[in-house]
Amino acid sequence: MPKSAEPKDVPGAERYLPEDRGLNSLEHAASGCQGCTLYQDATQTVFGHGKAEAPVMLVGEQPGDREDQEGQPFVGPAGRLLMRALADAGVDPALTYQTNAVKHFKFKRQGKRRIHQKPGRTEVVACRPWLIAEIQALQPQLIVCLGATAAQSLLGSTFRVTAHRGERLRLPATLDVGVEAEPVVMATVHPSSLLRDQSDHRQENYESFVADLRSAASALPAMFRSDRHG
Ligand code: URA
Ligand code: SF4
Repeated sequence: MPKSAEPKDVPGAERYLPEDRGLNSLEHAASGCQGCTLYQDATQTVFGHGKAEAPVMLVGEQPGDREDQEGQPFVGPAGRLLMRALADAGVDPALTYQTNAVKHFKFKRQGKRRIHQKPGRTEVVACRPWLIAEIQALQPQLIVCLGATAAQSLLGSTFRVTAHRGERLRLPATLDVGVEAEPVVMATVHPSSLLRDQSDHRQENYESFVADLRSAASALPAMFRSDRHG
């Protein structure tokens, strides 16, 4: 297999895409997706959440335990940290549409606990049609990739967040996302990495995350920015 080839051993979400590509119709169709094996053990599809007019799309990795149960992205501990960081960055959460690269929770059981497992490239590629359809429906001005899974879904499997975090990027033409105006794309760390951070640099790392969010938001047209008067 050539190095650039993407995994093709799962059917992928493409065949589940509805004709009507509005967000509600997409969400409804995604609830029945069997594009990879993750639907088998998870509770439900966790589709994106937010207003169709939101100028900012936040892309996480996959739903966590709480999100899987509640059916909404970023309602657990990582989501709380993300909301605090958005507030500290001066970004109104109402301006954001929140979603994930992979729409089902991947986990392994350990007794009664369900332990998060990182989705593989196969699942990321299988699920990407939903993410692309969300971008097409939303036409965001700004896409923030939270962590490597989201960044690699949109920017390619060789993308390294550590090397390129905070940079203003564009979607690669090869993704063939139909957008009228090219969104600015930025990658930063995943809020879960900050929750796990037990290092002496925990606060500093949180502040870098807030700085990335603030800098991403500065790419928005002035009408959406809370700093527009200052
Ligand atoms: N982590 C994610 O990446 N997404 C969520 O929705 C929740 C936690
Ligand atoms: Fe479909 Fe994505 Fe769920 Fe896989 S993870 S079944 S591709 S919605």
